[in-house]
Amino acid sequence: MKTKFLFLTAIVAVLFLASCSKEDDPAPVVIKTTYNKDIKPILVAKCTPCHLAGGANPNKWDDFTTSKNKIDFIINRVNREAGAAGFMPLNGTKLPAAELALIAKWKADGLLEN
Ligand code: HEC
Repeated sequence: MKTKFLFLTAIVAVLFLASCSKEDDPAPVVIKTTYNKDIKPILVAKCTPCHLAGGANPNKWDDFTTSKNKIDFIINRVNREAGAAGFMPLNGTKLPAAELALIAKWKADGLLEN
């Protein structure tokens, strides 16, 4: 009886160790774009002073809810040709492609705050 128990214990131990093989690579870490981490820094740097608290424009991009609700307008304006009617940042230079892509990804990722 005791031998049988030890035998079973050994099998369980082998199965357990086998399940720890390298084939069980952890799932790839998916990093989602968020407002506070990725988007706010861009908008604060590039849309200042007009769209920040105290600025002339009623749309405050340093506010999460406003930015989220107006995301389609933001994407539309920053993707226009520099200098075209309605282009943003007004009187500024076009955002780099990486920043445009990040803003689009923020929307695709579900407009997360954090
Ligand atoms: C120099 C000031 C200035 C800067 C900088 C600026 N804007 Fe604007 N923005 C305006 C003004 C003025 C308007 C209103 C006139 C218009 O709609 O074009 C406006 C309007 C907008 C609108 C339209 C909102 C609506 O409800 O229709 C969006 C979207 C926008 N800006 C996005 C941005 C973004 C994003 C940036 C930064 C990348 C930016 N703006 C930088 C002055 C500015």
